[in-house]
Amino acid sequence: MDRLKGKVALISGGARGQGAAEARLFVAEGANVVVGDVLDDQAASLAKEINAKGPRSVVAIHLDVTRGADWRNAVATCEREFSGLDVLVNNAGIFNTAGLEDTSEELWEAIVNINQKGVWLGMKEAVAAMRKRGSGAIINISSVAGLTGSTGSTAYHGSKGAVRLLTKAAAVQYGPDRIRVNSVHPGLINTTMIDIIPKEQRDHIVKTVVPLRREGTPEDVAKLVLFLASDDSSYCTGAEFVVDGGLTAQ
Ligand SMILES: NC(=O)c1ccc[n+]([C@@H]2O[C@H](COP(=O)([O-])OP(=O)(O)OC[C@H]3O[C@@H](n4cnc5c(N)ncnc54)[C@H](O)[C@@H]3O)[C@@H](O)[C@H]2O)c1
Repeated sequence: MDRLKGKVALISGGARGQGAAEARLFVAEGANVVVGDVLDDQAASLAKEINAKGPRSVVAIHLDVTRGADWRNAVATCEREFSGLDVLVNNAGIFNTAGLEDTSEELWEAIVNINQKGVWLGMKEAVAAMRKRGSGAIINISSVAGLTGSTGSTAYHGSKGAVRLLTKAAAVQYGPDRIRVNSVHPGLINTTMIDIIPKEQRDHIVKTVVPLRREGTPEDVAKLVLFLASDDSSYCTGAEFVVDGGLTAQ
């Protein structure tokens, strides 16, 4: 119940999907949470839903992860509303299945800006606040697409692969400050993001290449992110954590 007691977390892209599941679980485990997203109404509804169950523990803000000013406002909100920042979940992301030659420069830039630059900017703006607290945990949401290739999704693979090594670079740099940085690599997770994959294709993947024979849920990922946010993972940093039902085991 209290695995995050006294901690303050900032979750990007937290209005829905995995980020929203993490916000609910973090609060259930004693954290205060700032949820930042470009979906302002959905973020506000989530905060209202969680706050209705107990003391005010969630604040929703507008955060476009590609904008440094938005990140500075997000970190300042954590410090003003809840007196500090202990945990950053770089969760915001966009997905597209376009292959290498079908990827336009605009699509490449949109994906890389959100999925890759957004993660760097989040860490850049968060570490000073974590240093003030004497420690911190950063969880960067990559993907199995950051570990292996496929026949499409070129910009997505590139951006998620970059997140894997941004994570290791930050872990090495900030280990002496007791700031731990790890990446999470979900497989096929049942959220709005993968609605663009036709249902028959999703079913086929589950039946043929996912050993656990089901799609993951946002809660499956949230439980791993909770572990990495909490002191239970006190000696884990610079590491990659897969939550994919065995997809990349073969
Ligand atoms: N669903 C999957 O199968 C899957 C698999 C591997 C990795 N992931 C990763 O998990 C993370 C969460 O995705 P999800 O599955 O919950 O999908 P989702 O689409 O439900 O959530 C993504 C969230 O990011 C937000 N977002 C997009 N652009 C933003 C921006 N510029 N600034 C701030 N927020 C922005 C969206 O509004 C949305 O709330 C993403 O990084 C995604 O790439 C998802």
